[in-house]
Amino acid sequence: MRPFISLKSIEERINGEGLEIDAVPLAQILALDKTPVYVTSLNAVSQRLNKYKEALSCHFMHNEIFYAMKANFATPILKTIVKEDFGIDIVSIGEWRKAIASGIHPKKICFAGVGKKETEWKEALLGGLGNLSVEHLTELSDILDFLYKEKNLNSFEKKVLVSLRLNPAVEVETHPHLKTGALNSKFGILYEHFQTWLKAKKLQFTSEDLFLKWINPLKGIHVHIGSQLTENSIFPLVVKKVLDCAHFMYENKIFVQHIDFGGGLGVGQNGVPENGEDIFKHVHFVCNAFKEESKKYPKLLSVWNEDYSNLSVCMEPGRSVVASSTIFLTKVLYEKRNSVENIFCYVDGAMNDFPRPSLYGAIHHAELVNYNIKKLQQEDFNHFSWNVVGPVCESGDFLAKNAILPQIHKGDIIAFFEAGAYCRSMASQYNLRELPSEIFVRDGLITDII
Ligand code: LLP
Repeated sequence: MRPFISLKSIEERINGEGLEIDAVPLAQILALDKTPVYVTSLNAVSQRLNKYKEALSCHFMHNEIFYAMKANFATPILKTIVKEDFGIDIVSIGEWRKAIASGIHPKKICFAGVGKKETEWKEALLGGLGNLSVEHLTELSDILDFLYKEKNLNSFEKKVLVSLRLNPAVEVETHPHLKTGALNSKFGILYEHFQTWLKAKKLQFTSEDLFLKWINPLKGIHVHIGSQLTENSIFPLVVKKVLDCAHFMYENKIFVQHIDFGGGLGVGQNGVPENGEDIFKHVHFVCNAFKEESKKYPKLLSVWNEDYSNLSVCMEPGRSVVASSTIFLTKVLYEKRNSVENIFCYVDGAMNDFPRPSLYGAIHHAELVNYNIKKLQQEDFNHFSWNVVGPVCESGDFLAKNAILPQIHKGDIIAFFEAGAYCRSMASQYNLRELPSEIFVRDGLITDII
């Protein structure tokens, strides 16, 4: 299912009449002649974000959703974030600048990211960044030194909340490139390393008071264990590791006020449920696991209160917010049959426009969504196993392998689904191809064309 997208049966997909996105008929989009093009329902984005807010608010009165803009940083999406009053998770100074330019308040930005440059975190801190997540102990020392010395950063509007990004050293089921919380992962800081660092740091200060002043901005813990997670059974272990770390901090007079459980909820090939059931399930599972486990840490609960009124809890979803909001439309150029098994459908979109199939072997559901009735024969509804390929000079340039589609003809339109996350944002200009266009729709209107 895909909220705000409707697709008629194959026989009815004639002359742009078979598909509607956010009440805009495909014919209206095709009239713009923009293929290859991404088309996004902004209502779908708003709806998914609000499901997260609703679910998290059931558990914690202080909560925040930081949309991970790496999934899709298109300006109309960021403007939707501003309008709906959500936060943003960023990972580079480029994302910072774009978020600010789109009207996001700096206090509502969380800057994570492995290997940040000093110039990057300094620019964001001086610009009033709200949350900074630290991924290396050298980075943590440098940031705390800077904040300690930088007097004008002590003013209320500049005050930043620093979080330790914990690597919980857990294994999850996903593509190896999408794991971020395992021992062999470059992300985050191991608990044992943090313990050793903290003990050593304390000794460098002449008094405990001075040490506590220096460490004062560190008030949060952040974990993000991976992306495209299709099951959540690891979370009870993850929350235990977060609580162990928070407890160790408590014993050292560092009081955790902020916990960020990252993003990661996966989206299957059939899209997402209309009612956000997947989001509710995920958020409730993680929050319940956390609340259940935290009962074993009475000292932490005495700080947070039984109703967690002294704790703010955040999540940073990317894919699950935007993936199913968007379709990628490509136009058929021609077909070729090298043998019965090797049949190719050439389209005007390529790996540089839509990179997930060639990068991760990702399967995005494909449908023939438009054809010209005049060309159609009855036998055209027989289905074949197509390799849908693009014009880039590489054999790795494919959008789908063995996609089951009917006979195709020049000028037909093929749509790829779940195209809103990590597709246009990872597009490149390889072969000096132009970047694909983007069209945004809401309530039956085309709102933006990029
Ligand atoms: N927070 C942090 C710190 C992250 O690194 C990520 C994603 C997210 C949040 C959002 O995760 P999501 O909810 O989207 O799973 N290019 C890959 C995905 C890379 C994800 C990177 N980090 C893909 O196309 O599958």
